[in-house]
Amino acid sequence: MVVVVREAFGRKLEFEDIYNHLTLPDEVHLLKIGAGKEIVAMRGYSRRVLSGLQSLILEGAAILPEMQGNGVYGKMLEQAHEGESVLCLRTQNPRLYAAFEKFCDKVYPGFHDTPRAVREIQKAFAEYLGCDADENGIVREYYGGLFYGEEPYHERISPLFMERLKMDLHKGDAVLVLGVKEVEEHTCQPIEE
Ligand SMILES: CC(C)(COP(=O)(O)OP(=O)(O)OC[C@H]1O[C@@H](n2cnc3c(N)ncnc32)[C@H](O)[C@@H]1OP(=O)(O)O)[C@@H](O)C(=O)NCCC(=O)NCCS
Repeated sequence: MVVVVREAFGRKLEFEDIYNHLTLPDEVHLLKIGAGKEIVAMRGYSRRVLSGLQSLILEGAAILPEMQGNGVYGKMLEQAHEGESVLCLRTQNPRLYAAFEKFCDKVYPGFHDTPRAVREIQKAFAEYLGCDADENGIVREYYGGLFYGEEPYHERISPLFMERLKMDLHKGDAVLVLGVKEVEEHTCQPIEE
């Protein structure tokens, strides 16, 4: 597992970072393949009520480099999703945003404005994480530097991160990304806090 996480991020992450990836989420799912059941991917999840809505919090994902770019993340998300209307994550990786966008109906922050109600959920997510985010959902210098061996780039999403959201990955900026998933009426259950 340690190997998968280190290879996915392309650098020798501290043991504590890996430990947190595996122990902070409520659930951790591993994807194993082949006769030897080799671990090729991991994904952590927690489920909370944020701003009165059932939310799936995606707490860390790592896929071996040779398996990246094949939609594995979306498949893992499909398995974890239990009808929550809100999904959220914190990242520096525009490729994660791109993968997440394929699963959700709307994703914020984006090239469009963020509605006030979504900002409220984002605020609740920041509180859950114990960090301060600006009006775009950016947590400045969160990671203290680039979290990857090599800066991850995505043709469509990198300009959003760099130009519109003014993120500086080398200073450690992270973005709180919130996805809205339109769900069947009977599975959408707003809850009073
Ligand atoms: C981010 C990650 C979880 C996404 O999972 P995935 O299964 O690769 O996602 P997808 O296959 O849907 O790819 C999403 C987009 O990123 C691109 N992409 C993903 N990995 C890539 C790679 N290694 N090189 C170039 N492009 C890549 C895909 O081509 C796709 O682009 P498109 O939307 O234009 O088609 C996975 O790439 C990964 O483990 N990355 C390293 C660890 C990491 O960043 N974890 C998240 C921490 S918050």
